[in-house]
Amino acid sequence: MLVLGIESSCDECAASVVADGRRILSDIVASQIPLHEKYQGVVPEIASRTHLEWISGVVRQALGQAGLAPSDLDGVAATARPGLVGSLLVGLSFAKGLAWSQGKPFVAVNHILAHLYAPQLERELEYPFLGLLVSGGHSIIARVEDFDRIEVLGTTIDDAVGEAFDKVSKHYGFGYPGGLAIDRLAENGDPCAFRFPKPQLNKGEHSYDVSYSGLKTAAIRQLEQYRSPGAEASPANIAASFRKAAVDILLERLLKAAADTGLRRIVAGGGVAANSYLRSALGERTEFEVRFPPLSLCGDNGAMIAGIAARYIERGETSGLDAGVAARVPLYRRLSTAH
Ligand code: KG4
Ligand code: ZN
Repeated sequence: MLVLGIESSCDECAASVVADGRRILSDIVASQIPLHEKYQGVVPEIASRTHLEWISGVVRQALGQAGLAPSDLDGVAATARPGLVGSLLVGLSFAKGLAWSQGKPFVAVNHILAHLYAPQLERELEYPFLGLLVSGGHSIIARVEDFDRIEVLGTTIDDAVGEAFDKVSKHYGFGYPGGLAIDRLAENGDPCAFRFPKPQLNKGEHSYDVSYSGLKTAAIRQLEQYRSPGAEASPANIAASFRKAAVDILLERLLKAAADTGLRRIVAGGGVAANSYLRSALGERTEFEVRFPPLSLCGDNGAMIAGIAARYIERGETSGLDAGVAARVPLYRRLSTAH
């Protein structure tokens, strides 16, 4: 089954052809990072206009690299939610038009579920597993029961983790996008130069929520308060200490969720899953089977959209051409028997 997946929820204009929900035949990601760099953040109006200019070229390249014509496809899919509404509309409308003109099934995809599907593109991973989805928009710890079913165990009560990386980087002028800039800078810094406070969350027995506004404020406005004796307030030291504090918040909650649910398989996804400290700290936990998608599949991409869409098409669950976009999705917390 050959499916074309289109992703345009934020600043990545991406398209990919995936065979049988797993084998990536092409994966084109046109990043708008240089266009947003001078604003140190994604400007929605620029993003949607750029998607409009780029989308047909990106799709043509994805089909070309796979050696296929539109008529060879068995389905066309696009991200429908959550994301920037104007940007989502470009990809979704393009996908609908292509599907309709070729008489192919169309699937409107949930971006969060697609990120959690990304590791399946490498090799099959058995369900259930514990998913950690960390990006500019999300910080989610979930029990992933199937490609289309997750139970959100915890999420952020304020900023997403990637957003905190981006804001701290923007404040100090470390570079854009912030997560990558801080990660690189941190390699030469002392992670103990600043000892930032941990968030005081409600201590409910089964709370896996995280919070980043306190850490962000500490790292930006109250920095000196947390400096270790003798430590230098250098960019590398700030970056290393912030990176460690930000990732440790995630790790603590994630490992608690693993202990409480008994899940031994852990899968990370989203842009922050590219973080080298997160990868090494989690990789060291040999008691778990930890899977990180390759870096190319951590950020936004069309392959995860095409891959998960194939699963829906296999089940005959396709979307109508009246499917719309949504900026947000409700994160239902279904109670499980363990809670
Ligand atoms: O998944 P993604 O490409 O887009 C969405 O937000 O959906 O994630 C982008 C986020 C940004 O906040 C970026 O700063 C962060 O991922 N990021 C990182 C790293 N690379 C990208 N954060 C920490 N460490 C990294 N190496
Ligand atoms: Zn994403």
